[in-house]
Amino acid sequence: MEELKGLILSGGKGTRLQPITFTSAKQLVPVANRPVLFYGIDAMVEAGITEIGIIIAPETGSEIREVVGDGSQFGASVTFIEQDRPAGLAHAVLTAEPFLADSPFVMYLGDNLLQGGISELVDAFRANSPDALILLTQVADPEHYGVAELEGDRVVSLQEKPPEPKTDLALVGVYMFTAAVHDAARAIEPSARGELEITDAIQNLVDSGHRVEPHIVKGWWKDTGRLEDMLEANRLVLDATERRIDGEVTDSTCEGIVVIESGAVVERSTVTGPAVIGAGARITDAYIGPYSAIGERCVVDRSEVENSILLEGSSLTGVGARVEASLLGRNAAVSRKEGGAPSYRLLIGDESDIEVI
Ligand code: G1P
Repeated sequence: MEELKGLILSGGKGTRLQPITFTSAKQLVPVANRPVLFYGIDAMVEAGITEIGIIIAPETGSEIREVVGDGSQFGASVTFIEQDRPAGLAHAVLTAEPFLADSPFVMYLGDNLLQGGISELVDAFRANSPDALILLTQVADPEHYGVAELEGDRVVSLQEKPPEPKTDLALVGVYMFTAAVHDAARAIEPSARGELEITDAIQNLVDSGHRVEPHIVKGWWKDTGRLEDMLEANRLVLDATERRIDGEVTDSTCEGIVVIESGAVVERSTVTGPAVIGAGARITDAYIGPYSAIGERCVVDRSEVENSILLEGSSLTGVGARVEASLLGRNAAVSRKEGGAPSYRLLIGDESDIEVI
């Protein structure tokens, strides 16, 4: 098979992660302190794919260009491709046609995480040379995904977010295609949500007699579109991390898988892993519980946090109750003023979601 190219989709609006995504791309929300997008790029490079196109949206593209750069930090060569509007995954493929030309390629949705990467699947694609290879996994809520119906190991039908799914096999956001997909993407009509669905393009491949090979994913898979999924992805990745303490730890205990980056300071605190504390963060008189990812330059002072993601520069100061299952945006601050009557003073963005428990 010809050399494979990579296509990572990093556009979209990220509506399910607002307000974070008002100012930042959803693919840059960190999982264990690394943008979720970076895991996809790593997975490509591990599978031997180094010529990668990244689809970006006009609104968030410049931020993605900035953090990814030319791709050399990943051992890849990255080309950015702007999609003028979020018109669907098949529309993204057509937008990337000049970059992809006749090459077979792996398409990877930039907010997806797949345990164990994609090397084995890419090897299967290379070895079996089908026209397309799709990944499937059983889910409890198939109506939220593309859903496939199989007969033996043959794909019979595919439907995008069907209200009454025929099976519980969801399409994972990693696809392998030959150039045949371009004509299939041109042949379909926009769906009810007004998008050119990749699911419909694959159905078109099936209908026109192309060989579409299904693979059931064995490890975990996460589409990090919602806060719960983001937190779960964070837990899964932190679980697989190795303990490393490069920062400064004084009068504190660090138990379990704990990563403290150099330049971070932990004083009079307890850190119970799995947890990661970014460079330049200051943790004082605090408790950092399991599954916390504390970003660069964050401050946690006289506060307790667990199972949460704090983006860079955010802070928790003197907060009385434990902060749980939370996501704090960049430079967001939560504090408690001592001695005052119990009250809340809030400056929060549109679509923010605050629960006082
Ligand atoms: C997209 C696809 C869907 C697939 C899902 C996987 O949905 O349209 O078929 O199952 O990604 O993450 P979206 O999340 O863009 O609505």
